Amino acid sequence: MRRSLTDYFTRAAESYERWALPQRESARRLVAFVRPYGLTLDLGCGTGFVSEAAVNALPVGLDRSEGMLRVYRRRFPLAVRGELEALPFKEKSFEFVLSNFSLHWGNWERGLKEALRVARRAVGVALPVEGSRTFSSFPFPKAEEVLRRFPGEHFLLELPIPFEGLELVRFFHYTGTSVYEGKKTPSVSELKRRLPTFKDAFFKVLYLKIEL
Ligand SMILES: C[S@@+](CC[C@H](N)C(=O)[O-])C[C@H]1O[C@@H](n2cnc3c(N)ncnc32)[C@H](O)[C@@H]1O
Repeated sequence: MRRSLTDYFTRAAESYERWALPQRESARRLVAFVRPYGLTLDLGCGTGFVSEAAVNALPVGLDRSEGMLRVYRRRFPLAVRGELEALPFKEKSFEFVLSNFSLHWGNWERGLKEALRVARRAVGVALPVEGSRTFSSFPFPKAEEVLRRFPGEHFLLELPIPFEGLELVRFFHYTGTSVYEGKKTPSVSELKRRLPTFKDAFFKVLYLKIEL
């Protein structure tokens, strides 16, 4: 299962940036909230939206998908293939650790623990949570549960997904929200049935900063 998710992101890497408009906006907001500088880990970096926004930082990307890392390395030379639940770094290796739209793909609890272990100053995450309006019924975590386990300065924001109809299907396809472990993408006939009534999609995003 895990392997197929990694393969999925590897195939989607080239198209990801064209479609992932809310993710890029979210990365910009996360960086404005946390204001990282110095050596900064971009956890689940994808093609590098956080690294791109973090102009005062020296970014290091980590991702499990070789395809995403290939695109990331075109702009940012420091990149490591790895799992966000078991980071290949020593305690306090980075000034900041930031993660945008990535922790929910894996075990967010273990990912956050690992982020806190390798950060010196602060960890910042942008995490889509339950209450998001996407037709894929992705099992987003509950904001209250994340905050109960990891309290910190935070706010919630609804980020619109600026696509409708077939474009919306493409958005979910190319950004990965239509696939997740343990559940298949909805069938084409199911999508056709649900699409005409599906409007105003958005992600409800939890922005969380934990200072150390
Ligand atoms: C939706 S993309 C977000 C990418 C990027 N952070 C952004 O802002 O656009 C999710 C990324 O998380 C990566 N990912 C998913 N599970 C992971 C894991 N367990 N360890 C490392 N990376 C993971 C995927 O390969 C993908 O690149």
